[in-house]
Amino acid sequence: MDFNIQATNWDNEKRIKRAKIIADQIARVVKLEQYYSALEFGSGTGLVSFNLYDNLKDITCIDTSQGMIDTLNLKIQQHQVKNMRAHQLDINDDCLLIPTYDLIYTSMALHHIVDIERTLTNLYRLLKKYGYICIIELDEDDGSFHESEKDFIGHNGFNQNELKKVLEKIGFQRIESYSFYSDKKMIGEVSVDYSLFIMSGKK
Ligand SMILES: C[S@@+](CC[C@H](N)C(=O)[O-])C[C@H]1O[C@@H](n2cnc3c(N)ncnc32)[C@H](O)[C@@H]1O
Repeated sequence: MDFNIQATNWDNEKRIKRAKIIADQIARVVKLEQYYSALEFGSGTGLVSFNLYDNLKDITCIDTSQGMIDTLNLKIQQHQVKNMRAHQLDINDDCLLIPTYDLIYTSMALHHIVDIERTLTNLYRLLKKYGYICIIELDEDDGSFHESEKDFIGHNGFNQNELKKVLEKIGFQRIESYSFYSDKKMIGEVSVDYSLFIMSGKK
């Protein structure tokens, strides 16, 4: 999928509604504090973060897609949001990020990354001591979800127990997860069922 091409039409009714549900789940598993600095990686157009900025001190959004970041920056300007910043950046090219985050969250971006252990180790480093991680991801599927994307080389969702083991190995503690959302996605003429889970942990 070319996210630069998708960027201008990314915000549709379904994704806006889903992002609100995701943000509510983040607020359910992490007690959000007004002094928290947060990082969202793979933010896309910031649909999730737009539901959270009122409850946090500041949010840095990063995404590899310049198109997504341009759309997000336009929204930040239009809505005059003062405590959100957006940068085109790969989470694995983290030299520009300062490790001071109380909370890092990501929604449906991790499965696009091949070496997730490297990325999650990086997120651990970027968190303050006792900081929270929150991962929203696809439950494992048989490949149907990305069937139409011939260049897709990521993960067909994740097995929650396997992902938990990776987080534990890195050093995260108090890891919990559960599925909270299910829907259908149209792939051409075919309707594909999928579900999302949230996994939280503490440094
Ligand atoms: C499926 S979209 C999800 C967008 C948004 N989180 C949402 O829920 O609407 C995945 C996003 O992750 C971004 N992404 C993929 N790999 C990335 C990486 N290594 N670093 C930062 N962003 C990445 C893509 O550019 C894309 O915008």
